[in-house]
Amino acid sequence: MSDTVYLNGDYLPLADAKISVMDRGFLFGDGVYEVIPAYQGRLFRFEDHIDRLNNSLLEIRLELQKSLDEWLAIFQPLLDGSKDEYIYLQITRGYAPKRDHGFPESVLPTVFAMCSEIKPFAGRVTGMKAITLQDTRWQKCHVKATSLLAHVLLRQEALDQDGAEAILFRNGYVSEGAASNVFVVIDGELITPPNSHELLPGITRDVVLELAEVNQIVCREDIIAVEALQNASEVWVTSSIREIVPVIELDGQVIGDGRPGPLFQKMDQLFQAYKQSLV
Ligand code: PDD
Repeated sequence: MSDTVYLNGDYLPLADAKISVMDRGFLFGDGVYEVIPAYQGRLFRFEDHIDRLNNSLLEIRLELQKSLDEWLAIFQPLLDGSKDEYIYLQITRGYAPKRDHGFPESVLPTVFAMCSEIKPFAGRVTGMKAITLQDTRWQKCHVKATSLLAHVLLRQEALDQDGAEAILFRNGYVSEGAASNVFVVIDGELITPPNSHELLPGITRDVVLELAEVNQIVCREDIIAVEALQNASEVWVTSSIREIVPVIELDGQVIGDGRPGPLFQKMDQLFQAYKQSLV
C-alpha cells in the first residue's frame, strides 16, 4: 500500500489520516464506497465505477457532485503506475457534533481515498471452494454501502468452513457472493442473476456479459434456483480484486470435474486480453 492517502482535500501519510469518532461513517456505517482497479496506472472502467458511486450517493441521499475529471485529479497522485493497484474510495455523511439517527442539518461529507496493490488471487488459477448461505442482508444490496456487517459475517462463515466465498440465496434463488457476483454454466449456457435491489451491479460482471456477447458465448441474465447449482458444470464468482474465479467445490460437492472448467478458461483469457488492451 502506498503510504500517502487522500482525506478531505489533503494528501498525507496514512498514519496521519484521522477522522472524528463522531463521524457518521464510524457511528452508523452511514456511507458508500467504491473499489476501482488501476492496471499500470490506468483506471479500469472508470466511468462505470463513478456512475455506480453516483447512484449509491443518490440512494443514500448524500449530495456530493464531482466530475470525472475531479475524481481523476484526486486519484492520480495516489497511483504508482508501474503495477496493478486499486483505489479504495469511501464517502461518509461526515461529522456531526451529536449522535442522532436523522441527518444532521449541515453536512460536510468525509471523503477518503487510498491505493493498494492488487495481489493476484491464487484461486483464479487453482479454483476455490465455496459454500451456500441464506442471504441475510438488507433490501438495498445494489447500493455499495460501507455498512458491511452482514457481508463480513457471511464471508467469515465461508472461511470458517474452509471456503473462500459464500454464495448467497434469497427465497430459494441465488443473489450474489458475499463480495462478488455469481455466474453458472448449465447445459452449456452461461447464466447470471439479473440486476435488482438484491445484488450489486458488478463492473466485472458487466465486462463478462459484454465479452460473452462479443465472442458469441451463449449467455443470459436469469434467476437461478439454489438447487440448480448442483446441475452446474461450472460456477464462477467475479469481482474487481479477484477478477473471475472458478468455484471447484460447493458445499463439499465437486463442481464439474473439480478443476477450472473450459468456459472459465476461455472467459479468463478474454478478460485478461481485454485488460491488456486498455493498458
Ligand atoms: N466488492 N457484490 C458485492 C456484494 C461486492 O462487494 C462486490 C465487490 C461485487 C463485485 O463488484 P465489482 O465487479 O464491481 O468489483 C459484487 C469489492 C471488491 C469490495 O467490497 O472489496
